[in-house]
Amino acid sequence: MFPQTLLKKKLYIKTYGCQMNVYDSERMADILTPLGYILTDNPDEADMTILNTCHIREKAEQKVFSDLGRLRDKRDVRRSQGADMVIAVGGCVAQAEGAEIIRQAPYVDIVFGPQTYHRLPEMIAKATRAAEKTKKPNQKRGLGIVDVEFPLESKFDHLPQTEESRASAFISVQEGCDKFCTFCVVPYTRGAEYSRPVTEILKEAKHMLSLGAKEITLLGQNVNAYHGQAPQGTTSGEQEWGLGRLIYALADLGVERIRYTTSHPRDMDKNLIDAHREVPALMPFLHLPVQSGSNKILEAMNRKHTAQQYFAIIDQLKSARPDIALSSDFIVGFPGETDQDFEDTLSLIRNINYAQSYSFKYSIRPGTPAGALENQIEENIKAERLAILQELVNKQQLAFNLQTVGTTQPVLLERKGRLNGQFIGRSPYMQSVVVMASERLLGQVIDVCIDQAHPNSISGSMVTHENESFCI
Ligand code: SAH
Ligand code: SF4
Ligand code: F3S
Repeated sequence: MFPQTLLKKKLYIKTYGCQMNVYDSERMADILTPLGYILTDNPDEADMTILNTCHIREKAEQKVFSDLGRLRDKRDVRRSQGADMVIAVGGCVAQAEGAEIIRQAPYVDIVFGPQTYHRLPEMIAKATRAAEKTKKPNQKRGLGIVDVEFPLESKFDHLPQTEESRASAFISVQEGCDKFCTFCVVPYTRGAEYSRPVTEILKEAKHMLSLGAKEITLLGQNVNAYHGQAPQGTTSGEQEWGLGRLIYALADLGVERIRYTTSHPRDMDKNLIDAHREVPALMPFLHLPVQSGSNKILEAMNRKHTAQQYFAIIDQLKSARPDIALSSDFIVGFPGETDQDFEDTLSLIRNINYAQSYSFKYSIRPGTPAGALENQIEENIKAERLAILQELVNKQQLAFNLQTVGTTQPVLLERKGRLNGQFIGRSPYMQSVVVMASERLLGQVIDVCIDQAHPNSISGSMVTHENESFCI
């Protein structure tokens, strides 16, 4: 019943959550390729489905369980047709809940965490053996394989090189978090902070470049806390490199565009700020989540910085790179947040003037210190505050987009758009840019004269001799 032959098997992966999960899903596909799995975007034809889950807010978690119910139905259909489907749950919900997932959804076959997915081939072999033993598939029970350890070995030592070519590629350089913000599950689901050695990252970057990458985004839950083992024989004799130093080295390899995400204000050190001043390939855009503008709330969140310290960092960044565009995450309705605290957040937003933002209602997460606080905020107040905050940040985003009208932006074309001949790319400032172009330019950086701004994107036409004079 379970696919065992060398015939190609179809693998469907659904990714929830952050870019680290996107990176992990790509690596899972890489690991399963030698076992004969090829990716499909149709879950109905999948021999194996992986849900790579996110635990950050309650809604994200609920979605996983409703999707699982639908998957069970799909598998029943496949079984009635003489086929089958392995159902696996990975990612942060899997890590947080472990065997509890199987109690709630007994038809799940495999549960694995963000630090054990390199062991997927063993888990599948186990699942296959278990399936052979049971012979007739039980409609209700899955195979019950759970591996949510935090192993001593690093998964990165066991991952094959990717062969997928991407104009804009991700490299995970740091994982986990030791900051323990009181609202957040990440330190529990991803484990302690870990930085990959520099040599390994540079090797992966060279490989990405050889596959045609123009842009590399360095990923980490706390990417600017990066402190990886320095390459052997560095002249300066340092044992470890920070993120700034790593960025200089990537630029030396010839990476055209470098980005990094997500950063914590406390880890914006001098070296990194200098990199923004001195490395032209480092894009003038930074996602630097502040969460709140109230010092009282920042303290209760255990963010370990004040609004004033955040302003000081932004000032340094702006003097290093005057055109830097900023983005942030905000949480409204953290326990104890008063109207005045919320007003302080709005005032911080007005002061900084963001190019982009993500905002969320505080969501109680089990096992986190803030979840146990008594002074929780009512849902309707959270909703009201979120609407007010979003109105402000949306206005700022549109104003930022409008500023680029009439300018020429170098745009990395990443994918096809909805219309024929339409392509979508990114400006240096991370704006989505819509432009008509020819397919051979996909994966290239082209100059686009921007003529329209929208709430979530800008659009324009390729710079040619005819329209050159309209744009600056
Ligand atoms: N490492 C990043 C954030 C990772 S989580 C940082 O330190 O900023 C992404 C975002 O989800 C957070 O920035 C926060 O705004 C939001 N978030 C995390 N936990 C949350 C919770 N319990 N309720 C609502 N939003 C939350
Ligand atoms: Fe979560 Fe805070 Fe760590 Fe970010 S820094 S991942 S918000 S605990
Ligand atoms: Fe979600 Fe885990 Fe990322 S909880 S945001 S998928 S680190």
